[in-house]
Amino acid sequence: MKLVAKKQYEAAVDKTRNRRMKWWREARYGMFVHWGLYSLIGRNEWVHAIESIPMDEYEQLAKKFKPKERPAREWAKLAKAAGMNYMVLTTKHHEGFCLWDTKLTDFNAMNACGRDLVQEYVDACREFGLKVGFYFSLMDWHHPDGSACAYDPAARRRFLDYVQGSVRELMSNYGKIDILWYDVPQPLQHHEGWESLAMNQMVRKLQPGILINDRSRLPEDFSTPEGHVKAAEAGRGWEACMTFNDTSWGYMPSAAQDAHRPRDIMKMLNTACTGAGNLLMNIGPSPEGDVPEDAIEPLTAVGKWLKKNGEAVYGELGRPVIGLCTSCGRFSQKGNKLYFWCRNWPGREMNLGGFQTKLKSARFLVSGKEIAFEQKGHRIILKKMPTNSPDKIVGYTVIVLEFTRPPIHLNAASTPALTVGG
Ligand code: GLC
Repeated sequence: MKLVAKKQYEAAVDKTRNRRMKWWREARYGMFVHWGLYSLIGRNEWVHAIESIPMDEYEQLAKKFKPKERPAREWAKLAKAAGMNYMVLTTKHHEGFCLWDTKLTDFNAMNACGRDLVQEYVDACREFGLKVGFYFSLMDWHHPDGSACAYDPAARRRFLDYVQGSVRELMSNYGKIDILWYDVPQPLQHHEGWESLAMNQMVRKLQPGILINDRSRLPEDFSTPEGHVKAAEAGRGWEACMTFNDTSWGYMPSAAQDAHRPRDIMKMLNTACTGAGNLLMNIGPSPEGDVPEDAIEPLTAVGKWLKKNGEAVYGELGRPVIGLCTSCGRFSQKGNKLYFWCRNWPGREMNLGGFQTKLKSARFLVSGKEIAFEQKGHRIILKKMPTNSPDKIVGYTVIVLEFTRPPIHLNAASTPALTVGG
C-alpha cells in the first residue's frame, strides 16, 4: 500500500469529512456496550489490573464465558427503543480477549464458546437499522509484548503486527463498518510509535466511509470527552461517552443503585445538543449478555420522549451560545429556531432574557399549540402557560422559538461552556 505523509493524509481526510460525518452529526445519540471476560467478575472492566489478578488465572475466565443466544439482538432492540441510531461494541478491551473469530490469538470467543460475537453484534445492528461501531483497545494486558513494546524494538514490532493485523481483520471481515473507536494508546506515547498514520490509512482504504475517533494519538474525525459532556471547539465533531452509574463501564451489579435516572440522561442529551455534539451512553451487559435491569427503564423513557421531541435532537444542529439565559433549561438550535428544553417548569409565565433578535412565534413542540408572547427590549415573556409541565414522560417540555433570523444573544461572548458530569 502506498502511504502518504501526515500533512497530505490529513488534508485528504479533511476533504471528505463533512460527507462522511453527515449521518453521525444527525444521529446524535448512540449506545456503547462494554462486554468481555471482566463481565464475569462484575467489578469493573479494569478488574485484572485493579485487583492484581495474574493473567494465567484471569485467562481461565474464558472457560466460563457462555453467553446466551444472540444477546446483541436485545441490546440493539433496546437501543432502537431508546431513540439511539448507532452502537459501539468493545471488540477487545484492555484484557486482550477478542470477541471475534481472530486468527491472531487463541484468546478469543470462538475458542471460548464457539461463536463469533462480533458477527452476531453486526447482524443485530443491521437488523435494527443501527450504524455499526467497533471499539478496539490499543493497550493490551494479555499480549506478551503489550508492555515490553515500550522499550524493546523487537517486541514493539511484534506487538504492532498483532495490533494492525487485528484491526485489519475487523475492517475486512464484517462488511461496512461505520465507526472505529480506538481506546487507550498506552504504553506508546506518540502516534509514530503506534504507526497510527499507516494503520489508519489501511483502515480508510478498507472502509472508505469510516469515522475514526481521536484515541490513536492522531486527532482524526472526532473528540471523545469521557465521563462528562462538554463541547469541543466549534466545527469539531465531538461525542461524550458516559457510564450508566459513574463507576464502571463493564457489568457491575453493586453499582446499579447509582444508575442514572431518565432525567440525568436528559440533561446529558440536552447538553450534547446545545453544543451540537453526540452522546454515547454505555451499558455493561451481564456475562450471559443480558441488558442490566437498571438501564432498561431509563433508556426506554428517554426513547419515548425522543419519539415525540426528536425534532429538537436529530439532524444538523447549530450551537446557540445561550448558557446563562435561564435557570429552567437549555437550548438546541436549527437555523432561525431555538428549541428551549424546559427542565424546571416555572408556571404560568416564563421569562427569557438577553435576546437581541425579533421573535416571530412561540409554540409547544409536541402539541404545536401557539404560545402568546411579548418581547420587550431583550426580554421575551411567554404568557398564559399551563401551571405544570405538559411533558409527562420525563418532565422536559420543548418550546420552539422561531426568530426572524438566527438568534443573537447578549451573552454570546461571555457564556461559559456548559458541562454535565466530570
Ligand atoms: C477508558 C477506560 C475504559 C473505557 C473507556 C471508555 O479509557 O480505560 O475502561 O473503556 O475509557 O471511554
